[in-house]
Amino acid sequence: MSYVSLTINGINIKVSKGTTVLDAARQAGIFIPTLCHDPAIPRFGACRICVVEIPGMRNLPASCVTECTEGMQVFTESPAVVEARKTILELLLANHPQDCLTCDRNGDCRLQDYAFRYGVKESGFTGERKDYPLDDSNPYIIRDANKCILCGRCVRTCNAIAERSVIDFGYRGFGTKIVTAMDTPLGESDCVYCGRCVTVCPVGALTWKPLAGKGRTWEMSRQEVTCTFCDSGCTFEVLSKNGQNIGVVPKEPGSGRPLCLKGRLGLELKYLDEPAAPQLKKDGEFVEVSWAEALGLEDILSKLTK
Ligand code: FES
Repeated sequence: MSYVSLTINGINIKVSKGTTVLDAARQAGIFIPTLCHDPAIPRFGACRICVVEIPGMRNLPASCVTECTEGMQVFTESPAVVEARKTILELLLANHPQDCLTCDRNGDCRLQDYAFRYGVKESGFTGERKDYPLDDSNPYIIRDANKCILCGRCVRTCNAIAERSVIDFGYRGFGTKIVTAMDTPLGESDCVYCGRCVTVCPVGALTWKPLAGKGRTWEMSRQEVTCTFCDSGCTFEVLSKNGQNIGVVPKEPGSGRPLCLKGRLGLELKYLDEPAAPQLKKDGEFVEVSWAEALGLEDILSKLTK
């Protein structure tokens, strides 16, 4: 394997050829913010928050798509870089609801973290704002397109799963948004709610419906569990608050497959202290029923208890 040597913020670093500046910085423990970058999916280079200064290059290149070269000098927090990041954050905040106090992602939002880090309190850019309705048309995922920063991580993650590609960029310019086919609500699309899009969303555009209002991220502890319903080995996280398990969320799918309903629902039944009550359709409406009724065991149980 061939290597290249470079300096990042004056620190000498040697990395294998083909390594991006972002990965080299991370190997050296140097922070560079990212929004659209995800090491598990192809490089994208869309958000530009990861820009760095490299003398000899005309503009500030995005570190997540720029490969290291021999003798390269990189500066990750120069005045020009910080100014560019502040402008990017202001542009994003110009069209992002400032409702952090009630947002489920408060404390777990990269936009919030970076605004804090770079001291961006508000946007100097004013103009038309997006006003999309909330999409909670399905049992698992709430989509708030007004909070979407169009980083495309959900799209690329969904596209990386064979036979999925349920969402993509739609429309143009100011109207660009993430859409399903024909821009239907998620509940009317081919989405199987594997939830990988939620796990990669860096802001509050995609959140877990079953967890809505159940607690702040810093109040929850997480325990990683591996699904045992088949041999794929998908991993989930059991979230608990005050000693009670309140949710099971997907983490990594095994073998690049979508996380299946069997695993997700089965693990909810297994780990949740208060699993959701089963529902049956009666007279055209879903109503909560007992487990005995849902499983058709009422007759048997009544005979056993006589
Ligand atoms: Fe590099 Fe978005 S993280 S361009």
